[in-house]
Amino acid sequence: MGIRSLLVSSALVVLVASLCRADSAWNGHLTPGSTTNTRFTPYYVPPGAKSYDSSSPLLHYTGTWSESFSSAYVQKTMRSSSEEGAAMTFTFTGTGVEWFGNQDRRHGIATVFVDGKPVQDVDAYNPASMKQQRLFWTYNLSQGKHTLKIVNSGKKQAASAGTLIDVDALVVTRGPPTDATPTGQQNLAASSHDLAANPAALDLSSQFPSGAQWTLVQNGSTGVHAMQLAIISETHALIVDKVEHNPLTVSGHPAWAALYNLKTHALMPLSMQSNSFCAGGTFLSNGTLINVGGNPVVEDHTAAADFGDVDGLQAIRIFEPCDSDNVNDCGMYENHDRIRMASPRWYNTVLRISDGSAMIIGGSLKGGWMNNGTTNNPTVEYFPPKNIHGSNGLPIHLPFLVNTLNSNLFPIAFSLPDGSVFMAANRDAMIYDWETNTERRLPRIPNGVRVTYPMTGTGILLPLSPDNNYAPEILLCGGSTVDDTKPGYEISSQDPASPQCSRMVLTDDGIAAGWQVEQMPQARTMPDAVLLPTGDVVIVNGAGSGISGYGNVINQVGASNADNPVFTPVLYSPSAPAGQRFSSAGMPQSNIPRLYHSVATLTPNADIMIAGSNPNLDRSEVKYGTEYRVEWLGPAYMKQARPQILEGVPKLLGFGKAAQLKVRLPAGTFQGANMKVALMDLGYVTHAVHANSRLVYLEHSLSDDKETLTVTGPPSGNVYPPGPGFIYVVVDGVPSIGTKLLVGDGKGPAVDKAAQQNLLDKTSVDQYEKTKGHPKEDSASE
Ligand SMILES: *[C@@H]1O[C@H](CO)[C@@H](O)[C@H](O)[C@H]1NC(C)=O
Ligand SMILES: *[C@@H]1O[C@H](CO)[C@@H](O)[C@H](O)[C@H]1NC(C)=O
Ligand SMILES: *[C@@H]1O[C@H](CO)[C@@H](O)[C@H](O)[C@H]1NC(C)=O
Ligand SMILES: *[C@@H]1O[C@H](CO)[C@@H](O)[C@H](O)[C@H]1NC(C)=O
Repeated sequence: MGIRSLLVSSALVVLVASLCRADSAWNGHLTPGSTTNTRFTPYYVPPGAKSYDSSSPLLHYTGTWSESFSSAYVQKTMRSSSEEGAAMTFTFTGTGVEWFGNQDRRHGIATVFVDGKPVQDVDAYNPASMKQQRLFWTYNLSQGKHTLKIVNSGKKQAASAGTLIDVDALVVTRGPPTDATPTGQQNLAASSHDLAANPAALDLSSQFPSGAQWTLVQNGSTGVHAMQLAIISETHALIVDKVEHNPLTVSGHPAWAALYNLKTHALMPLSMQSNSFCAGGTFLSNGTLINVGGNPVVEDHTAAADFGDVDGLQAIRIFEPCDSDNVNDCGMYENHDRIRMASPRWYNTVLRISDGSAMIIGGSLKGGWMNNGTTNNPTVEYFPPKNIHGSNGLPIHLPFLVNTLNSNLFPIAFSLPDGSVFMAANRDAMIYDWETNTERRLPRIPNGVRVTYPMTGTGILLPLSPDNNYAPEILLCGGSTVDDTKPGYEISSQDPASPQCSRMVLTDDGIAAGWQVEQMPQARTMPDAVLLPTGDVVIVNGAGSGISGYGNVINQVGASNADNPVFTPVLYSPSAPAGQRFSSAGMPQSNIPRLYHSVATLTPNADIMIAGSNPNLDRSEVKYGTEYRVEWLGPAYMKQARPQILEGVPKLLGFGKAAQLKVRLPAGTFQGANMKVALMDLGYVTHAVHANSRLVYLEHSLSDDKETLTVTGPPSGNVYPPGPGFIYVVVDGVPSIGTKLLVGDGKGPAVDKAAQQNLLDKTSVDQYEKTKGHPKEDSASE
């Protein structure tokens, strides 16, 4: 390539990068690239997918169908039939298909067949008149040829005035391309100089008994892309996305949040008012979950499609406890007039602290890519608002969040057993004593590794145990050594990720000893670290090269800033001798890339739910596309005889209070010595931040007949911040199914009405946004 073409291409990159930046506050285009305001409909053709109009010769109609013409229809034409048995048949090659048509009060019910099998009855009745609605979708067909058949059933619900069924358009999706044999995978760690010094890290020889195979099963679809994930009950997970063209719809527009049934894989879309793009979340002490922050409404010139959402930058969305398997009455509540943050935050971390309230940490004042001094919000604030250090409900400045620019969004944070808060951002770490508002800086993370967005690594607080008086130990893994002052056009999706894990005991002695460095068998950015009840850590997801985000660097793959997905999970055993802690023995390999916006969490069943990946502005079908498929990683223990908790887990477990559990232990092997009771917070997962993820081993004793287990609640809210958790009984390395409970007194965090009022008086919604005063914002309040 000559100098001249080099110049041209880097100029192009700058242009593309700046376009993407202008797009960062994006709210949805009707079609990619459109900039004119159009009435919003769910009809959307993602990049890589293909649309077939109702008039296409590939659609075969039998029975009586009439054709109508209107500019409101795709390609201005639509077919309709009210006749029982009238059918449309369409053969296509791909992994999914979507059917679009009208809904109104004259519509009836159609039966949809895929490959000859009836899969769904679709009721197109709607009291309102809706155009270009997604009436049916499936994305999880095997790669190949399939047939869609839509048959007018002649049936209708009582309220309907007719049995009309329409075909306006079909969209065929090929699904994100997956390499069955992941040839793109590279062991970038092998090229790392650090690894040469630690060859043991490459030794994957088994620590498992032979035949102890893990399993990886794909089952279910998230319906909304899984950017944020939290287990809310024994049966359900909450999934939160940004505003985009997800297949799951609610109130006539694509949904951006859903409840996922862990047992049946059924979905319930949730209505959300504001754009939750890159929000964080936590449970509070009374079991209520809050989802915090997000993205603004777009500026008008890009508002080609109006999803009806409002500015989410200062949002605090309330999700009240939802513990029953019937989730129909569960929902998100927002009213920014009464409940909001004092300042806008995008990419903030939200942490439950020792008094059961939420600490809302850092973030950016607006959407963008790399944080900088202009966009930085170097403060913490609390929910409910507190009056401490003279703040009276307003944000409190943290020098650490200034010193750690630029790559410091989504700080890694954990509440420590003395009530203070560990924070890591970029290359640095500290302990923040929120009660005295003091920062204790810790040694810098070795070897120039950056661990927070967009150089995303992951962090975990290793299990806390009464055996060592709850001495806290932190593990940070992956990330990148890419210079965070470089512009996007000097960063490549091929820049190697870091294989480094850094571990430190957060006691005076531990801090004096500093970070202990280890190497993962494979380098990863955007890994997810999931604590198991056994005390081991599973590391999954992520990329071998590049950084987080999309549309910013050179050599993008699709829009992804990262490449070389890592497909093999690795188990880290914290208590094994150094050099023997990593193992992928017996681990299955996935073929689904899980890059930016992927998640993983432990489930109540003690397996691992893996979802997401969407390094795209909106749903895309080109590599690396939007991924809705869910995988379930089953540790070898899932196939062994499991201990059972029969009854006795109290709804509330007070600090230091005892509870008696009836248990049934597997016959045979158990000698009584190797028993643990794990109290776990499964965390709120997004952007590789596993906020609140926690394992505290409880003091316990087993009756002589081995049927009654007496467990004692954690000693204080410092050791386990009051709030929800799951109890697992672990015998000989095999956990029971987890039972949910609330730790503490179940009360809400203290509410300081004066601080709350001061926040509302001194701040307004969208205070930094040009859109302030836009009529839309007024609709944020009910
Ligand atoms: C495929 O997706 C449908 C929803 O369209 C869901 O009901 C079904 O369980 C999924 N099947 C698998 C194997 O994931
Ligand atoms: C997927 O989950 C459903 C519901 O639990 C179950 O019936 C089905 O067998 C599962 N499929 C696979 C492939 O595990
Ligand atoms: C800071 O970031 C914002 C958002 O990405 C960008 O618009 C702005 O130009 C940046 N400012 C500087 C000084 O780099
Ligand atoms: C829990 O406390 C929060 C904060 O005060 C409040 O918004 C929420 O309604 C409470 N939830 C319950 C179940 O009382």
